[in-house]
Amino acid sequence: MEVAVSRWPQRPAGFAYGGDYNPEQWPQSVWADDIALMREAGVNLVNLGIFSWVLMEPAPGEFDFGWLDRVLDLLHEGGIAVDLATPTAAPPAWLSHREPTIRPVTRDGVRLGGGARASFCPSSPAYRAAAARITEELGARYGNHPAVVLWHVHNEYGGHVPACYCDNSAKAFRDWLRARYDGLAALNDAWGTTFWGQRYGDWAEIDVPRRSSTAVNPTQQLDFLRFCSDELLACFRAERDILHRLSPGVPVTTNFMASTCKYVDYWAWAREVDVVSNDHYLRSAEPENYIDLALAADLTRSLAGGAAWLLMEHSTSAVNWQPRNIAKRPGELRRNSLAHVARGSDSVLFFQWRASRQGAEKFHSAMLPHGGTATRIWHEVVDLGADLQRLAELRGSTVLAPVALMWDWQSWWALELEWRPSVELDFRSALDTWYGSLWRDHVTVDFVHPEADLSRYRVVLAPSLYLLTDAAARNVAQHTREGGTVLVGPFSGVVDATDAVHRGGPPGPLRDVLGISVEEALPLRAGEQVHLSDSTTANCWAEVVTNLTAEVVLSYLDGPAAGCPALTRHRYGAGSAWYLSTRPDPVSAVLRLVYGEAGLVPADLPDGVEVIHRTGGGHEYLVAINHTDKPVEIAANGEELLTGVACHGLFSIPAGEVRVVRS
Ligand code: GAL
Repeated sequence: MEVAVSRWPQRPAGFAYGGDYNPEQWPQSVWADDIALMREAGVNLVNLGIFSWVLMEPAPGEFDFGWLDRVLDLLHEGGIAVDLATPTAAPPAWLSHREPTIRPVTRDGVRLGGGARASFCPSSPAYRAAAARITEELGARYGNHPAVVLWHVHNEYGGHVPACYCDNSAKAFRDWLRARYDGLAALNDAWGTTFWGQRYGDWAEIDVPRRSSTAVNPTQQLDFLRFCSDELLACFRAERDILHRLSPGVPVTTNFMASTCKYVDYWAWAREVDVVSNDHYLRSAEPENYIDLALAADLTRSLAGGAAWLLMEHSTSAVNWQPRNIAKRPGELRRNSLAHVARGSDSVLFFQWRASRQGAEKFHSAMLPHGGTATRIWHEVVDLGADLQRLAELRGSTVLAPVALMWDWQSWWALELEWRPSVELDFRSALDTWYGSLWRDHVTVDFVHPEADLSRYRVVLAPSLYLLTDAAARNVAQHTREGGTVLVGPFSGVVDATDAVHRGGPPGPLRDVLGISVEEALPLRAGEQVHLSDSTTANCWAEVVTNLTAEVVLSYLDGPAAGCPALTRHRYGAGSAWYLSTRPDPVSAVLRLVYGEAGLVPADLPDGVEVIHRTGGGHEYLVAINHTDKPVEIAANGEELLTGVACHGLFSIPAGEVRVVRS
C-alpha cells in the first residue's frame, strides 16, 4: 500500500536540538530535572527508547509501557518533541536464549554471544517476527501521541555486525540469488564458476562465502555484500511499513553512518526513508578532522537529494571507542555543529543527553556531563541552543555545489575484495584525498552515484570507479559530450557489475570518451615515489597508458611507467574528459587544472577557514567557520546573525569562531 507521509519538518519549528535520551537508566526522580534542564538548553527534540526492548517487553509477549507513557507525557508537557525508536537493535536476552539462531555467525563460523547489542541475524525468522511484534505494539500505542513527531527505526543498521553467515542467512542468500538470476546457468556464468571448477549443479550447493582455503569467488562475495545490504533493508522496510500504517503522517527514518559504514548501500536506502538522518563522529586524533566532518555532511545532503537532513548523533566532546579519545577543545562543539547545519542539517542532535554512570559508554561525553551544570560542556551546550534559535531562518535555504564527486558503495566493495593488485589502492583514501584538496580550495561538492543525473554540475570527478556499469559509462559520456568536464582516477572502468574485467581491459566502456587504453597496471612498492613532468611526485600506483587519441598533459619521468602518460585530456563532444593514472601527492595541482578548465577558481580565502554559501527565501547566507587559532578577515556584506552586527566589506572572525552573514 502506498502511504503518503509528510517529510520532515513539521515540528519542532526551527532547528531540532537535543539527542538520545535514556531516562530508563535513571530513577524517575531525575526525569523532572532532565526536562527542566533540557528547556534551559533549548532542547526541543529527543530520541527515545532506542535500546529499551527488554523494558518494553520484559518477557515474551508481556508488555510494560507504563514508564514510557510517563516519559512521553512529561516531555510533551515540557514542550519537547520525541523521535520514538523501535528498540530492535537491542534484542532482549530472553529472545536470544529462547531462539539462539537469532545470534549472528561470523565468517569463521563463530556464533556471537550476548551481553552487548546489535547481536542479531537479519535473516532470522524469529528475530523478524519479534521485531515486527514490538513495532506493532509501539505503533498502536504511540502512533497518534502528540509528542511523537518522528520514528527512529532500529539503530545504525550494519554498524556492529554487517553480515551473518548462519544457515538461515545461507537459505535467504539462495532465495535472493534466485530472484537476481534467471536460472542457475546465468549464475554460473556471472560468477565465472568454471574457474577453479566451482560450477554449481543445484541451488542447494551454493553457500554464503564462509572462510575457506583461500580467496573465495569474488562475484560470490560481491553478491553476498549486495544481499547483506538488501537483507538489512528488508528489516527496515518491514518496521517502516508497520509504522506508516499505524502512525500515518509521521515520518520514519533510521540513522545512517553515511561516510563510515562500508557495508550499506545508502543510495538504495536513501530512497526508502522519509527523511535522511546521519550519525557522525570525528576521527578525534586527526588534526584536521573537520574535513572528514564536511565530507560526511556533504555526502548526507547528497543522499537526501539536496533536501534537508537530520544530524541524528554526534558528540559534545570525546567518544570512548577510539584508540585515543581526544576531547573537543573549547568552541569545537559549536564549530562542528554549525558545520553540519551549514551543509544542510536541520538538526543538531547528540549521543547522548545525560552521561551514563554505568555500562560500556560511561566515558562517552554527553550534553549533561557527569559533573552536571557547572561544566564547560554544559555551558557550551546552552550557548549552542541559543545560537540555533538565532539561526532559525537558515532552515529551508539550500547549498548549491558546482562539482560532483562520484561515490559508489558497490564499487568500493568490489575494489577491496581479496587478491587485488595493491592493498594501498583503497576507496576511502582516494575519496578523502580528492575531497580534502577541494575543501582546502573552498570548492563545495555534492556526491553522486555514477548513474545519477549530472546535468547541474560543471565538473564531475571520479577518484575511484573500479566497478563501472555500461549505464554509468554512458552517463559520463553524455555529460562530457554536452560540455561537462570529467576527471577519472586510476584503476577505473576495470570490471562490470559481475566483477568481470571489461573486454580489452580498463577503462572499459570509458575508452572512447577518455581517448586512452590502460595496457598494464604497475603498483608501486610501499613508500616508493615516482616523479611527474611537472616536478611533482606520485605514489602507490602507475599505469602504462596507450592507444592515445587524448593529449598528454603530464607524464612519468621515472619508475616502472617512465615515459608513459600520467595525466591525459581528451576533447569529447563539447566537453573534455581527463584521466589520471596515478596518485599524485598532493593531488591539488591536477584538480585545479581540471576544474580551472571549467572556469572554477579557488576562492581567495584564508587557509583553515570553511565557507559555505546557502540560498533561500530571497537571501544569500554565508557561513564562515574559522578553524584556526588566529583571527581572519573575509569579505561580506549584510547582517551577521549570531552577533547582530552589520558587516560592510572586510570583517573579522575571531579565532575558532563561526559567523553567519545574511545578504
Ligand atoms: C553510535 C551509536 C550510539 C552510541 C554512539 C557512541 O554509533 O548509535 O548508540 O553508541 O555511537 O559514539
